[in-house]
Amino acid sequence: MSERPTIAVLVSGSGSNLQAIIDASERGEIPCRVGIVISNKADAYGLARGKKHGIPTEVVDHKGFATREEFDARLVEVIRGSGADLVCLAGFMRILTPVIIRAFPNRILNIHPALLPSFPGTHGPGQALAYGVRFSGCTVHFLDEGVDTGPIVVQAIVPVYDDDTEDTLAARILVQEHRIYPMAIRLFFSGRLAFEGRKVKIRGEPKIPEFSHRNPDA
Ligand code: GAR
Repeated sequence: MSERPTIAVLVSGSGSNLQAIIDASERGEIPCRVGIVISNKADAYGLARGKKHGIPTEVVDHKGFATREEFDARLVEVIRGSGADLVCLAGFMRILTPVIIRAFPNRILNIHPALLPSFPGTHGPGQALAYGVRFSGCTVHFLDEGVDTGPIVVQAIVPVYDDDTEDTLAARILVQEHRIYPMAIRLFFSGRLAFEGRKVKIRGEPKIPEFSHRNPDA
């Protein structure tokens, strides 16, 4: 069997980002495999996705713990037991405490459906629509002890249209999430990420061309 590093993916729902990561791994586009899928919800569809690919799964139901810290301590145990080299939050809808963040410093990635630092927390697409921005997008970032405040690895942008609903905007953003999460994981394992204060620098990454988009483009 391969000696590829492994990642633990934490999901609460559909797990379409998990699926994108599994697919990228199976196609050899990222140099690692998903070693375990963990969910706080027994009925999360992400668990079924994992099983379908022969990946071990584990449910850690937050309702079974008196405090967030106790829940996180159990997550740490399960992740350590799996031997994962990286933890990926993929639609994991729990706020994590320093108990887990300090256990895996700079080793937890999260994906968020907005261009951070705008619209953190829940309902990123809904917040963007309500504000009236004309571009939004998604962000993969390392977890720190704030809510969606950690060092940013990759972002992608999408236009917002006047007739968008929260669902249509979220769906447009999700397409980009599926592209940038595997990209961020590939960069993590490339060894080219360096931290400078709160910034992530990517060694040897070619600059994308300068561009200018307007929305509307009238
Ligand atoms: C994704 O859009 C992800 O960015 C978002 O939940 C969705 C999960 O989809 N996460 C957050 O809003 C975190 N605050 P998925 O289960 O199909 O990957």
